[in-house]
Amino acid sequence: MQSGLSGGGLHVAIIMDGNGRWAEARGKPRTAGHLAGASAVRRVIEAAPALGIRVLTLYAFSSDNWKRPRPEVSALMRLLERYLRTETASCVEQGVRIDVIGRRDRLPQRAQRAIADAEHTTAAGTTLQLRLAIDYSSRDELVRAAAHGPQSRDELAYWLQSFAGQPVPDVDLVIRTGGEQRLSDFLLWESAYAELYFTPVAWPDFGRDALAEAVAEFARRQRRFGGLAHAVQSAAVAS
Ligand code: IPE
Ligand code: IPE
Ligand code: MG
Repeated sequence: MQSGLSGGGLHVAIIMDGNGRWAEARGKPRTAGHLAGASAVRRVIEAAPALGIRVLTLYAFSSDNWKRPRPEVSALMRLLERYLRTETASCVEQGVRIDVIGRRDRLPQRAQRAIADAEHTTAAGTTLQLRLAIDYSSRDELVRAAAHGPQSRDELAYWLQSFAGQPVPDVDLVIRTGGEQRLSDFLLWESAYAELYFTPVAWPDFGRDALAEAVAEFARRQRRFGGLAHAVQSAAVAS
């Protein structure tokens, strides 16, 4: 049997959802929810390494989020830029390497520069690889990879990896906050055998304890990858 937790460190991917509803429930503008969400990002980054997480992929802005009203999109872009500018120093201190995945060409110039600077400044980090998905669409990435004419899974995976900063293992655990139970075009290929964890907690209320709970639930899951739990055990005994 392969339990949820194994050596090497986990790749956890989070769909940070529920900011807008969190704010609306408090009589605040949706952007107040996004601002509070930025603090949750900070908490989760700080908590991740001690929970055995080596790679953390956060869904910050989907390619479909361009459909939102312009003021909300602009506020999100400004927040992303500001987050990268203000958090880079503490990421360096904590050994966090930042890589951004997704399209860059449609982002405001200022955000593009902030991304390039953050990636450059944090490139030596080895404690945690933080991947921020911005203007990200998993289906678009698959189309881009397919355009290279891959002939095997490995080749397709190679091209997908080539769009991001550094190769990472497949996703072990997908967490979605905010109560919805869907993937919304996030890491479809990379999550083929990921465990899925949905929580009603809105992203601005998410933190160390909630993350620890998700990882504990993951450790209780039995991963079989299509095989049989007892077959893995007997193979181990035979060798
Ligand atoms: C997630 O929160 C943040 C982004 C999609 C950028 P939402 O803004 O989707 O919040 P809800 O789902 O409307 O509550
Ligand atoms: C997914 O949330 C995208 C991010 C969290 C960045 P959405 O709120 O955009 O997803 P849907 O529209 O509910 O599927
Ligand atoms: Mg949402």
